[in-house]
Amino acid sequence: MGFGHSQAPLLLKAIIGLFLSLLSYVFCLTVYRLYFHPLARYPGPTLCAVSRLPFLHYLQSGHLVQKTHELHCKYGEIVRLAPNELSFTNPQAWQDIYNRRPGHDPMPMNPIWQAKSANGASSIVDASVEDHARHRKALAPAFSEKSVREREPILQRYINLFIFKLRRRIYDSKTAVDLSEFFTFTTFDILGALAFSEDFKSLTTESCPLSTLTYSILRATTLRTGLRFHPFLAPFVGVLNPQKTYQEALHLFHQNTSKVHRRLEKPMPQADIMGHVLDSGKLSIPEIESTFNILTLAGSDTVASLLTSMTSQLLRNPTKLRRLVAEIRATFAAEADITMKAINQLPYLDATITESFRLDPPAPGQNPRLVPGPGATICGHYIPGGTFVSISQFSANRSPQNFADPDAFIPERWLPSHSPFYIPEASSDPPVAFATYAADRKEALQPFSVGPRACLGSKFAHVEIRLVMCRLLWAFDLQAEGELRPFEEQKTYSLWERGPMPVKLVHAVRKA
Ligand code: HEM
Repeated sequence: MGFGHSQAPLLLKAIIGLFLSLLSYVFCLTVYRLYFHPLARYPGPTLCAVSRLPFLHYLQSGHLVQKTHELHCKYGEIVRLAPNELSFTNPQAWQDIYNRRPGHDPMPMNPIWQAKSANGASSIVDASVEDHARHRKALAPAFSEKSVREREPILQRYINLFIFKLRRRIYDSKTAVDLSEFFTFTTFDILGALAFSEDFKSLTTESCPLSTLTYSILRATTLRTGLRFHPFLAPFVGVLNPQKTYQEALHLFHQNTSKVHRRLEKPMPQADIMGHVLDSGKLSIPEIESTFNILTLAGSDTVASLLTSMTSQLLRNPTKLRRLVAEIRATFAAEADITMKAINQLPYLDATITESFRLDPPAPGQNPRLVPGPGATICGHYIPGGTFVSISQFSANRSPQNFADPDAFIPERWLPSHSPFYIPEASSDPPVAFATYAADRKEALQPFSVGPRACLGSKFAHVEIRLVMCRLLWAFDLQAEGELRPFEEQKTYSLWERGPMPVKLVHAVRKA
């Protein structure tokens, strides 16, 4: 049955009416967001103020981190990233957004970024404020100073294997080694052993399919997060998320879960992180599955990322590499002297690690939070409830308001004024003056975040990084194979999507 003559103009009128209503809705919304919205006075690109689309584009392209930094350089310490979202770089924001403050509730995670595990149970990362406290109590004893000290044999065992494998590589062939992937093998194995007394056999097989899989899952997770920003798109999350990646995520979850269950069958109190959690009796089995699934990545790729970026910075700054190598080789006569206790005496090593955290933080992007109901004051500004807020570590760490020479690798800035490295030495590099960096806002650098949800594994991470770098630079001379691209040009999907880093290794020659 066709339309009669009188019906066609009616339909046309309805379509035009609908279109005009939509147009006036978009017009009113744009005017409201630009001039009357509570965030209208904060600077940022006009397109970001009126629509979430530019943000989603940066997020999906893997360049949100770099773009946010670009916007902070242009607009200053507060940027309106989207109609209801602000990004901060002033160090005070660490305290105001992430820490506990008298009279204020801690800011909850932004729920849009929280994806539930495959079994539906909460993990420490996506738990509600109340559940989170219980998760934290169950895990915290496994991360005490004592617990870290007791795990030294585990760390040393895998670092021995790491060095052994590199020596074998040099013996077998003179070609460059991809250190980025060897760091991955080492940190995944260490995490497996620390968490559930079972490594991933990455160093023995020289492969880590889990890591490759994780990158593809993180991309898919980012796509899902993007869709959740628009409630009307949320129902399509399942459709648009490629079935293959969904299956991969399930596979990864089941792999980790079977490790959890193998461990549950062996009673080993306090032998590993799982032992402490079981002793506490505070978490259900599904919660343990979810938390250990997250831990596998949170505690391994982050460390590998820092080791890779630090090596890359050192190779691109040969004077700094020479200083660090000299400190390590002057301190340790034998490889066996490199212990957890002895590595505390190396100020230049610590300065180099801190500077690497500053330039290429392993968690470079947002730790997104939601301003609770009544609103809150951040950096002296009243921010209404419901606003999305965050510090992008990459932007805060490279902000010229926070650090002098923000893009340069200057480990010396973290040393005290009496350090010998401030005295100009006969080198082609310009000498570093203490005064240049004295005004740095050092508290801007918080690679492990602060407050009730700050990283539990920071002590493990520091010890692991120091031991691996000391052993590597004690044993080998390093030389980049070809030109190394700056680490920070890589994409991020929550974590850096690290590419290969080919490095030529030569046995260090020691004077008798
Ligand atoms: C260089 C290495 C690491 C960096 C930069 C890092 C960074 C972070 C950051 C920024 C957070 C907070 C996320 C947020 O507030 O949204 C976090 C949380 C966490 N990290 Fe790490 N991490 C590292 C290594 C580790 C290691 C080695 C472990 C375990 C062995 C670990 C376990 C955790 C856990 C359990 C949480 C959740 C804490 C909570 O929600 O209470 N991390 N990490």
